[in-house]
Amino acid sequence: MEFTIKAGSPEKLKSGCVVAGVFAGGELSAAAKTLDKASSGALATILARGDLDDKAGATLMLHGVPGIEAPRVLLVSLGAASELTDKRYRDAVAAAARQLAASMAGDAAFCLAEADVPGRDLAWRIAQAAQILQDSTYRCDELKSRKEDSKKGVVHVAFITRAKHGDELQAALRRGEAIAEGLALAKTLGNLPGNVCTPGYLATTAKKLAKEHKIKVEILDRDAMEKLGMGALLSVARGSHEAPRFIILQYKGGKAKDKPVVLVGKGITFDTGGISLKPGEGMDEMKYDMCGAASVLGTFKAIARMELPLNVIGLIPSTENMPGGSATKPGDIVTSMSGQTIEVLNTDAEGRLILCDALTYAERYEPAAVVDIATLTGACIIALGNLTSGLLANDDALAAELLAAGQSAGDKAWQLPLWDEYQDMLKSNFADIPNIGSKGAGTITAACFLARFTKAYTWAHLDIAGTAWKSGADKGATGRPVPLLVEFLARRAGA
Ligand code: BES
Ligand code: MN
Ligand code: ZN
Repeated sequence: MEFTIKAGSPEKLKSGCVVAGVFAGGELSAAAKTLDKASSGALATILARGDLDDKAGATLMLHGVPGIEAPRVLLVSLGAASELTDKRYRDAVAAAARQLAASMAGDAAFCLAEADVPGRDLAWRIAQAAQILQDSTYRCDELKSRKEDSKKGVVHVAFITRAKHGDELQAALRRGEAIAEGLALAKTLGNLPGNVCTPGYLATTAKKLAKEHKIKVEILDRDAMEKLGMGALLSVARGSHEAPRFIILQYKGGKAKDKPVVLVGKGITFDTGGISLKPGEGMDEMKYDMCGAASVLGTFKAIARMELPLNVIGLIPSTENMPGGSATKPGDIVTSMSGQTIEVLNTDAEGRLILCDALTYAERYEPAAVVDIATLTGACIIALGNLTSGLLANDDALAAELLAAGQSAGDKAWQLPLWDEYQDMLKSNFADIPNIGSKGAGTITAACFLARFTKAYTWAHLDIAGTAWKSGADKGATGRPVPLLVEFLARRAGA
């Protein structure tokens, strides 16, 4: 999909479809008012019949409205004018995207971004709309032998503004597109099955990304990890015939001496649980256990496209978690790169084992901040469901930054406590630390485990177990939290 920004009057636009907002009770938006006037009140007459629901996201496609150049007018309900929220705006844009996709419009003149969303400027509304419209075209048909080939949909969308626009709207447009591209990469990696998206595949994807953008990449193999003493990570890889990889990405958009933000993404390309085997039902979804890694790659793609003036390092520890003759057994004790010994009481708590060595590796960058992203605990789904990512941090200012970024990006997180008291739930009789806590607070004890490896810097942990993918009929990766991460980094870069 291609986007432009155009100043103009909606009734005169030569476009396959004009998209305009209507508030509850048939109250017309500015664009709808103009269209209504040009059609001598036809819109108001149609709306008076009540075919368009008041609920934000309801739509009504009209054809051949007299006095209007475009052959189609898509009316989109924005709900009550006084109650327009981020969510309602996004719902309305998403609904418009669905209707456009099902039409033969070809191109569209999009007027919804004129709507006044409290606290959000035109740049935000355009960036969000571009992201949602572009994201709505995402398909994962790589592994289908017959691809859908539809003549429907739109290939070009012009955002219509009242006044002439400046550079900041172009930048907003670029940001929306960049995030959508990052989302698409993260989704595809997530959706690819475990027999395709292996640690080697993630490494190849990282190399490709480095070739196409201003990104440097380095891949460590098992030997290199052994030399570094990454005993925790390697203990997870023992049961698998698939070679583990440690991927290092460097994006240098800032000054040479600026300390980098380090992103660490969990890259378990399939999580069987290992010897502590998971139950069979729904186990296919454990192909999504590398969605943290995918979000790091997607975020790198987006920030490189945006040319953010910031230094960012990406670290992806990646392996399968398999049972096997040489797999780690419950009770085995391994030595992490930090020197701390770990009693592996449950081989299914493997994410923290690969992350802890990556978090120790991160120390060498003297990071400004470290954020890890992981499908870490089923407990996080119990706590927050599938709408909100879990956030835990050893620094409240960093936590606040990430929460605000998530709010603005429509990719929300919620903070859980990481109080010292919880550390008492991690006690081993035989090693420095066990890899699971005593009963309860599973998301917090997992973060407490990671906190033992993050004392050298400010750090936050995003548990995306509930938000990285959808189950059921709509099964598929969401690409989250790419929007949150890009917004966080953009704010850090002062963009
Ligand atoms: N990858 C899983 C977490 C997970 C489970 C994410 C279900 C999304 C849906 C993780 O490796 C895991 O198995 N965690 C265990 C930890 C437990 C053994 C302490 C869990 O949450 O059950
Ligand atoms: Mn597991
Ligand atoms: Zn896992």
